[in-house]
Amino acid sequence: MNALVTGGCGFFGSHLTEALVRSGRNVTVLDNLSFGSKRNLRALSRERSNGQLRLIVGDCTNPSDVKRALLDVDSVFHMAACPEVRDGLRDPATSFRVNVYGTHVLLEQMRKSSAARIVFPSTSSVYGEAKLMPTPEDYSPLQPISLYGATKLAAEALISSYAHTYARRALILRFANIVGARAIHGVTVDFIRRLQRNPSELKILGDGTQSKSYIHISDCTNAVLNALELNGRLIEVYNVGSEDQVTVLKIARIVVEEMGLGKVSVVFSKGSNGGGWVGDVKNMHLDITKLRSKGWAPHYGSEDAVRLATRELAGAIRSVSADNIRTHNSPGT
Ligand SMILES: NC(=O)c1ccc[n+]([C@@H]2O[C@H](COP(=O)([O-])OP(=O)(O)OC[C@H]3O[C@@H](n4cnc5c(N)ncnc54)[C@H](O)[C@@H]3O)[C@@H](O)[C@H]2O)c1
Repeated sequence: MNALVTGGCGFFGSHLTEALVRSGRNVTVLDNLSFGSKRNLRALSRERSNGQLRLIVGDCTNPSDVKRALLDVDSVFHMAACPEVRDGLRDPATSFRVNVYGTHVLLEQMRKSSAARIVFPSTSSVYGEAKLMPTPEDYSPLQPISLYGATKLAAEALISSYAHTYARRALILRFANIVGARAIHGVTVDFIRRLQRNPSELKILGDGTQSKSYIHISDCTNAVLNALELNGRLIEVYNVGSEDQVTVLKIARIVVEEMGLGKVSVVFSKGSNGGGWVGDVKNMHLDITKLRSKGWAPHYGSEDAVRLATRELAGAIRSVSADNIRTHNSPGT
C-alpha cells in the first residue's frame, strides 16, 4: 500500500503514520505545520532516509500541493483539520476552509488520481446532544451543536457522495476524545498546562459533571489498522471509543494525582448548561458494538486512558513549553 496521510505531523496523524510505516506501507505525509510539528515524526528518521516516508510541507486547500502528494498513492488518510471545537467558535471561516473546503479539494484531486480509498477520522461531535446513550452509528437526527461537528459532518457527506459517484471506497471512523503522547488539545493537556503554571489551583471550564468517553491513541491506531482489513460496503461508518465514560472532575483528580501534587483548589467556570463553552456536548458515550463485532476492542477504559496519557504528556509538555510552542493551541487559555 502507498498511503497519503494529510495532517501526518499532528497528534493522531503522526501515530498513524508510525503504525502504517511499521506495518510495511510507504507513506507520504502532507502537512502545513499549522498545528503539527516535524518533531512528531522524528522516530521515523531511518524510514525517511530509506524513502519509505516522504514529507511534503503543503496545504490541503491547495490543489497543486494535494496533486503532488497523491502521486502513486492508493489509500488516503485525511487527518488534517482544525480539530478544536473552540477554534470553530473563534474562527468559523478557517474551520470551514480547512475541514470542508480542504476535504473538497482532496476529493477532487483523488478522483483524478489512482487513489481508490479514503479513511476519514470523524468525531462524536456529529451526534450533537444525542438522546440515546451509548449512541450507535445509525442514530438520528444528526444535529451537531458546534461548528467543528458541523464541518466534520459536512466532510462525511462530501466523502459519501464522492464514494458513490466516483466508485471510491470510504471508511468513516467516528472517534470519542483521543488522549495520549503528542496531544496538544483537549482537557488532559489543558489541565496539565494549567497545573504547571499554578500547582495550587485548577480552573475547570464547566461544572465538572461533563461525562464523556476517552480513548487512548494506541487503541485508535489499532482500530484504523483493524478496520482497513474489513471487506465492507462502498462506504462504512464505525464508532471508535472506550466502553465507559469519565467526568471532567474525575479527570482533574487523575491529573493532580499523576502529577504528584498535594492540595489543589478547584475553581469552576460554569457555562449556561454546565458545559465548558458554547458547543461543549455534556454527555458523550459511543456505542462501539459494530466495530467490536469485527474483532477490534479497546485495551483501555476512559480512566486508564486518561491516566496513561497524563504520564505520557506531563514531562513532554514541560519541555515543549520551554521550546515556546504556540500557546493558542492550548484549549481554554
Ligand atoms: N484528537 C481527538 O480527540 C479527535 C477526536 C475525533 C476526531 N479527530 C480528528 O482526527 C484528526 C487529527 O486530529 P488531532 O487531534 O491529531 O489534531 P492535530 O491538530 O494534532 O493534527 C492536525 C494536523 O493537521 C495539520 N493541518 C491543519 N490544517 C492543515 C491544512 N490546511 N493542510 C495541511 N495540514 C493541515 C496540522 O498542522 C496538524 O499537524 C482531525 O481530523 C480531527 O478532527 C480527533
